[in-house]
Amino acid sequence: MTRPGKVYLVGAGPGDPGLLTQRAVQLMHECDVVCYDLLIDQAVLAMVPASTRMMAVGYRGYCGTSIEYGMHPDVVEQALAGHTVLRLKAGDPLIFGRATEECRCLTHHGIDYEVVPGISSALGAAAYAGFPLTSNGLASDVTFASGHRASSTLSSWAAMGQSSGTLVLYMGAKKLALHAQRLIQEGKAPATPVAVVAAATCASQRVLSTTLERVGGQIESFDNGDPMLVIMGEVVSLADELDWRKRLPLSNVQVLACTLDQTLTTQCKNLGATVVEAPRVDISYGFSDADWQRLQQAESLWLDSSEAALSLIEETRRRQLDCRQWPWLLRGSESACELLKEYNLIAQCCASADSGEVVISALTVPGALCGRRVEVLEPAFPLSPAALALVDELVVARYLHERGLLAPGALVLSQCEHVCRFLTSVGHQCERVNGQQGLPLPLMVEGKRNAA
Ligand SMILES: C[S@@+](CC[C@H](N)C(=O)[O-])C[C@H]1O[C@@H](n2cnc3c(N)ncnc32)[C@H](O)[C@@H]1O
Repeated sequence: MTRPGKVYLVGAGPGDPGLLTQRAVQLMHECDVVCYDLLIDQAVLAMVPASTRMMAVGYRGYCGTSIEYGMHPDVVEQALAGHTVLRLKAGDPLIFGRATEECRCLTHHGIDYEVVPGISSALGAAAYAGFPLTSNGLASDVTFASGHRASSTLSSWAAMGQSSGTLVLYMGAKKLALHAQRLIQEGKAPATPVAVVAAATCASQRVLSTTLERVGGQIESFDNGDPMLVIMGEVVSLADELDWRKRLPLSNVQVLACTLDQTLTTQCKNLGATVVEAPRVDISYGFSDADWQRLQQAESLWLDSSEAALSLIEETRRRQLDCRQWPWLLRGSESACELLKEYNLIAQCCASADSGEVVISALTVPGALCGRRVEVLEPAFPLSPAALALVDELVVARYLHERGLLAPGALVLSQCEHVCRFLTSVGHQCERVNGQQGLPLPLMVEGKRNAA
């Protein structure tokens, strides 16, 4: 009989992969299978080696799924087949993670397990929204409560209404209007500061800062389906003073990194930007069928080099297709565009260098780029000597301008009137060329690079 493999219940933290523990990362590289919750952010899943089997085993609350308590059958099956299984759980596995039922189930099947803690979303949310959970004179205790059911915890609502400590509600957003009403009835001040943190620590984190009496009327329009934590108490108001993230020069800016250069993306992160990797197809070692399939799904391509352009032409020929019928909007580096021209193919040239392209957008929805600005930046710029920057928010334009990084004559193609107005007022030539929302993200196609 096969000896069962071990199951590791591992906390994945709230979303920022930088918040994973070393033990979690080590186990990601050692296990045979990763079984993950639906709440786990893509950026965390991207840390798992491509060769490891991935299985989604979670469920999202509120969706009417009938929930079997206990370990997911796929996890049990994989472990009984002798595999080492990493059961990746959002936040910390021991906080509202049904660890008791899961551990009992594993014991019942004779499967060994180990629990690896993670940063719970409450801790991540407070840190990344810029306020503490306790603070001298404001709150000397903090309560983690489940807001999933409104009625069953009536006794604790009364205590929480009377408490001056901080209250964190997990799974509390859907019934928040009810909870807020009840807490006020139980004695909590209507003006109590409240922060609702959605997708805490992820690239798409959003914060609703409000009060207990107003939050019930605001939550529905704030809810876009991301997981949300509700934090109530006087500590929340300290964000005005302590929020370290909003002081960073590229805070609220999303950077779409079209580069394999990690130092570049790290620099962007250190400046406060959230970095989203551009979808890319690396054809340096030739085209696979899967690569070709992905290209078919893209609406526009960004060709990073003449090699990428040539590979695409050759692959099209190999498949006995006609380049003139390419369905894509083509953009690319100067060398890629030059090469396409030799074949009478027209592409829009976006940057004068083949490497180090970075796209900056101030939008919060990945993939919904609406503005663009093309510029070769000075070597002093922390992003890269040669960068492609898309700017559509005043703060980014101002940041670039203050550091003298906008060359006169820079072309700013932006949806945002303010950027154009600002840049025009400081002597740059601006052109608004696109009024559409949500341009699809171009798919990067990378060709061979020279060893140097
Ligand atoms: C089943 S509980 C799991 C909690 C998890 N074990 C932890 O320690 O964070 C799921 C709830 O956690 C909260 N949550 C988890 N990840 C979150 C995130 N990145 N941002 C905001 N809330 C999150 C939400 O309230 C969500 O409904």
